[in-house]
Amino acid sequence: MEIIRTISWMSQVARGAHAKERIVGLVPTMGALHEGHFSLIRAARSECSPVVVSIFVNPKQFGPSEDFKKYPRAFEADRAALENLGVDYLFAPTPEEMYPRGFRTTVAVEGLNEKLEGRSRPGHFQGVTTVVLKLLEIVQPNRAYFGRKDAQQARIIRQMALDLNLATQIVVRPILREPDGLALSSRNVYLNADERRAATALYRSLEAAHEEIAAGERTAARLLAAIRRVIDSEPGVALDYAEIVDAETLEPVVSLRGECLILLAATLGKTRLIDNALIEQSNGNFRVTL
Ligand code: PAJ
Repeated sequence: MEIIRTISWMSQVARGAHAKERIVGLVPTMGALHEGHFSLIRAARSECSPVVVSIFVNPKQFGPSEDFKKYPRAFEADRAALENLGVDYLFAPTPEEMYPRGFRTTVAVEGLNEKLEGRSRPGHFQGVTTVVLKLLEIVQPNRAYFGRKDAQQARIIRQMALDLNLATQIVVRPILREPDGLALSSRNVYLNADERRAATALYRSLEAAHEEIAAGERTAARLLAAIRRVIDSEPGVALDYAEIVDAETLEPVVSLRGECLILLAATLGKTRLIDNALIEQSNGNFRVTL
């Protein structure tokens, strides 16, 4: 595996691969890699060659009071894991390389940006789309891989790709979870033992909604009440939002219809976690994927 630090060399390598008509795959990450990331990389490796993984803790997607400075960084362990996974290139630029003096451009997907996570984290998604568009421009991948763990992010990136006629196919992959249901996240390392136990409330609340849906409940307000009951019974968990939205528009729905998402955010001590479930309608039935 080659480690690449500069944009110019990364684009040159990618252009070389395209000249040989190779299928280039990109998996953008912020490092502190876990099985969730690895699942994206394995998918990329089975469909693309070469595979590029980027590690860049993107300062533009962290708010001023957020965890940019203490975000977990584990470059050596990440490098070894990527080597074992058969990744071809690790692109790890510095913030100065990505945002040199005088950098001025922001990419914003209006209407999807401001809702939900965007309401709690103003400017977050502009930071995400700005860096992802840069990565897509630098690598020009045929396919780029994202996790449904960050469902709103994936929806926004898809919209950006559509609106800007990007040639890259955006691939969205399932959520990887711990055996007790907690969605894998680089931020889970922040949780102390009590918080770690309480953190399963997010998953359990989605399961409760799943059970209600299986029993025939279709009304968003009642499903959200079931979710709140589970979260409220866990004293260490403060719900930031729980919403059931149309998967396309991210607008709240009154009752289930078509493709919906249940989106949750909660804080445990100082740690903010998100989770979601996908609800798909097919001939009268609703399939829930956690
Ligand atoms: P990061 O949090 O490192 O996540 C990188 C990718 O891994 C994202 O697409 C995310 O959705 C996916 N991922 C994280 N946890 C997952 C899980 N449990 N199961 C499946 N996929 C999971 O998301 C970002 O970085 C950044 O915003 C980025 C897109 C790299 C832009 O800076």
